[in-house]
Amino acid sequence: MCSRSIVAPCVEVEAQYAEKALLVLRSLGYLLPNSKARSDKSRGVVRLPILEGLSARAVSVLGEHGIPATECVGEFEVGLRGLQYVDLLRGTLPEHVLRRLPRSYQLVGDVAIVHLPDDLLVYGSVIGEAIARVAKGVRVVYSSSITEGEFRVRRLVRLWGEGTGETVHVEYGIKMVVDVEKVYFNSTLSYEHWRVSEEVVDGERILDLFSGIGPYSLHIASKRRATCFAVDSNPWAALYLARSITLNKLLGRIVIVVSGVDDFLREVSSDRFSRVIVDLPHRSLEYLEKVMTVLSCGGYAHIYALGGEEPPVKDLEGGMSLVEVRRVLEYAPRKYIYGLKIMKKC
Ligand SMILES: C[S@@+](CC[C@H](N)C(=O)[O-])C[C@H]1O[C@@H](n2cnc3c(N)ncnc32)[C@H](O)[C@@H]1O
Repeated sequence: MCSRSIVAPCVEVEAQYAEKALLVLRSLGYLLPNSKARSDKSRGVVRLPILEGLSARAVSVLGEHGIPATECVGEFEVGLRGLQYVDLLRGTLPEHVLRRLPRSYQLVGDVAIVHLPDDLLVYGSVIGEAIARVAKGVRVVYSSSITEGEFRVRRLVRLWGEGTGETVHVEYGIKMVVDVEKVYFNSTLSYEHWRVSEEVVDGERILDLFSGIGPYSLHIASKRRATCFAVDSNPWAALYLARSITLNKLLGRIVIVVSGVDDFLREVSSDRFSRVIVDLPHRSLEYLEKVMTVLSCGGYAHIYALGGEEPPVKDLEGGMSLVEVRRVLEYAPRKYIYGLKIMKKC
């Protein structure tokens, strides 16, 4: 297994107590995962690596078991499997920085994206390298801030690695070409893309509004003989969707439309689609009325909309029935993206 040495907090015990101390600390989950204890034969002691912030507690617990122990800090070999990137940075970055590092990051193909606070960007290259070491196959690591502009592209700062933001991301076996510097894409929504496609049946005609690189259309067309109209104003998104179509074996069809959604909807006649997906969370509800017009009777709209602790819509009137409301993603503290499924009644 791949390993490296890191500096970590530890407890030091006499060698005769080492085995019992290991048992106690392991049962409490205090030991640093994948790490090896270090013995110092000349002094007759063993050092046991402990998770950050737990060494004082470990010493007192061992005391309760009759094992004299002292706190220490030492260098240990740790296996990289199951290790968090933050663990690799212990001893390299100050404790107050480690505490503020995000625990998670997003993987898009061989690109990793972490959301670092601006004042931590000075540590970017070591943080990027640590992420690349634990996330196998990562080629480039970015820090992202908010998505911005009409195309909802993230502002990215490269922390570590080579090449561009272009990559092939695989979701449920479906290959998607994407350049994270040019288009919006959120890999944490993979389950949602799959979930909607599971509802579709052969023969449907689907309108995928604000389609981006087309994950909903690609999922649907890969498993159903359906036709998806994927509409987005970002021409790069259209280009990547076209390239993805060449990489996947599709049963259905995808019609790529590079257009503003308002312009497109003006051209569409009523009752045309069995299903409409609307994925521009801060504005989706503005399109509800028009979407109902283009839906056929009994058809469904899947609307992704921002809300607080309460969903943005609870009841609907006027020929619409709210079939399902789910929280899909935490967008900001106490702000969520909700998935609303609405049926057109006639
Ligand atoms: C939140 S992203 C949705 C991406 C996609 N549905 C997905 O699951 O990855 C919103 C998309 O809407 C597009 N967009 C924003 N305003 C638009 C408009 N007025 N007309 C067409 N597309 C627009 C952006 O380019 C972006 O790709």
